[in-house]
Amino acid sequence: MLRVAVCVSGGGTNLQAIMDAAASGKISNSKIVQVLSNNPGAYALKRAKKAGLPAVCVSRADHSDREDYNRVLLETLQSAEPDLIVLAGFLVMIPAAMVRAFPNRIINIHPSLIPSFCGTGYYGLKVHEGVLARGVKVTGATVHFVDEGMDSGPIILQKPVAVRDDDDARSLQLRVMEEAEWKILPKAIDLIANGKIGVEGRRVTIAEDLDMFAL
Ligand code: GRF
Repeated sequence: MLRVAVCVSGGGTNLQAIMDAAASGKISNSKIVQVLSNNPGAYALKRAKKAGLPAVCVSRADHSDREDYNRVLLETLQSAEPDLIVLAGFLVMIPAAMVRAFPNRIINIHPSLIPSFCGTGYYGLKVHEGVLARGVKVTGATVHFVDEGMDSGPIILQKPVAVRDDDDARSLQLRVMEEAEWKILPKAIDLIANGKIGVEGRRVTIAEDLDMFAL
């Protein structure tokens, strides 16, 4: 049984997709053992509490410096003894010590087709604003392992989403969430929970005949 900790900062729609997928059996062999947020006002925490999940907030405002915050963040996660940490809209730079403590056991959902529109400054709506400004016709979402860089770890799953002429950043963000994020993040967790993911250097292999476009 894969023990999963989910880190959130905002609305928690990706957390909700994970919870719904677990309830419907689309994710098997796993259990959410902690939901952690850096934001005391995150609606994601309300979603977790409503579902009866252990929910905790580690707020930067409660810690005198970044080093102290990073230590408490890692200790709080480790207290739940997770096998996998899922960053589901978590707007905190993951400390190197945390990456080292969980090698290829932290995954992140990013709302673009990495390596496009990622890295410093690309988060939330800013990703979709960049997509529209560049005029690309296809965007999407990516689930990847977290390494010590930003959005730079081995890619697990991606799903494309067409950009429409009448899109604005918000309509595009919502469609990328609905058509891509909420599908590939639960799928990635299920694949990991059932031992179907292998990592060879920077390449991820999937031991399932998967049609990513049909997810
Ligand atoms: C989403 O756009 C996600 O791609 C990004 O953070 C945003 C918040 O998602 N990583 P959620 O509703 O809090 O899951």
